[in-house]
Amino acid sequence: MTSRASNTQGWDAGELMGLPELRALQLERLRETLARVYERVPFYRDAFDKAGVRPQDCASLADLARFPFTTKTDLRDNYPFGMFAVDRSDVRRLHASSGTTGLPTVVGYTQDDLDTWADLVARAIRAAGGRPGDTVHVAYGYGLFTGGLGAHYGAERLGCTVIPASGGMTSRQVRLIQDLKPEIIMVTPSYMLTLLDEFERQGVDPRASSLRVGIFGAEPWTEEMRREIEERAGIDAVDIYGLSEVMGPGVSQECVETKDGLHIWEDHFLPEIVDPITGEVLPDGEQGELVFTSLTKQAMPVIRYRTRDLTRLLPGTARPAFRRMEKITGRSDDMVILRGVNLFPTQVEEIVLRTPAVAPHFQLKLTREGRMDALTIRAEARPDATPDEREAAARAIAAGMKDGVGVTVCVEIVDPETLERSVGKIKRIMDLRGA
Ligand code: DLL
Repeated sequence: MTSRASNTQGWDAGELMGLPELRALQLERLRETLARVYERVPFYRDAFDKAGVRPQDCASLADLARFPFTTKTDLRDNYPFGMFAVDRSDVRRLHASSGTTGLPTVVGYTQDDLDTWADLVARAIRAAGGRPGDTVHVAYGYGLFTGGLGAHYGAERLGCTVIPASGGMTSRQVRLIQDLKPEIIMVTPSYMLTLLDEFERQGVDPRASSLRVGIFGAEPWTEEMRREIEERAGIDAVDIYGLSEVMGPGVSQECVETKDGLHIWEDHFLPEIVDPITGEVLPDGEQGELVFTSLTKQAMPVIRYRTRDLTRLLPGTARPAFRRMEKITGRSDDMVILRGVNLFPTQVEEIVLRTPAVAPHFQLKLTREGRMDALTIRAEARPDATPDEREAAARAIAAGMKDGVGVTVCVEIVDPETLERSVGKIKRIMDLRGA
């Protein structure tokens, strides 16, 4: 720790805070937030009253556990503006989550919220290795999705030049990267693979590009995927996490110097891990559902929001005062229960990416045969794979699933370039059980 001064160069005041100072700030901000929502949001007033708690009952951070959770359903029930804690005239921006089932959820930001968001994404890009003067290629979708605009304003706030590419038009993306020479790319990991394939299709070596760092998030990805992308692109690949309901990208960020999970910007978001079934708060280090309480949001504060994302909390490293969350295993909604065994697409990703002769493209097809659920893993062969290698790959994946996960699956090795490519968040599971 002799070079602490130079290590922390460029850190903002929040990152420089010591632990006692941070905990005191969190409590102060938490109490303010609880008081504000109780006063301004009828939903929270009712929920607190029903639970028999008042904002002033929160005398320590541990007291937060006495307050009720907020769920996605609560946000839907209050669609579109029922969760807002400010006048509509103070809302500068709206975003909405995809809403694959039923109503979308709408989220709002005041000017202060947008400023905080830009500051935190700037902090995230810096932790990922970005510096003022770098050029950032943003290939997250622009629009109601928070990825594009969230990354965009953060990169500008850091003092970078932004290429607002958005998602899609893959061959043009490759051209832009070659011509405009960005050092940083921000994109979903699955779309990064699509871009790498396109580089190769055009006969361009991605390792020779100007890119130095990729900031990948919006969907789960594994260490195996990190290795694949880092090797093929010749970059550092780091993880960024966030969700619309809590802010958007930049709730937590992996630091490039350690690549050991994502530091949560705890001066703005208070994390808890709870048992997904009982809701009981679990100690740091234990795996469970991530829950967030916003500490500074004005337009739409959230109290104990159930993210459905599964992870665990670990002590801070590269940013000592901020706890880390481990790379997300998956969402409870994406968990497949196959003949009694719980399984996540990330477990399949680990196995597929370890298997020679198959490309990092795969899909999970769920069907029902009689009263039994069946899972078929469809993985794409690498272009140079021989028939024998393809057969060996199918056997290796099936064995990996049997030994590592404990389920029997079918494996289909399909021809190169046949599985649908991602242009944003990838959908891995095709559930045909109701069909
Ligand atoms: O995906 C925000 C975002 C944009 C994050 C760009 C990072 C980069 P939503 O569309 O509301 O917001 O989806 C949020 O995506 O609850 C997780 O399930 C998943 N997710 C986001 N980041 C990660 C990540 C954006 N790094 C939902 N790893 C979250 C795993 C992630 N899952």
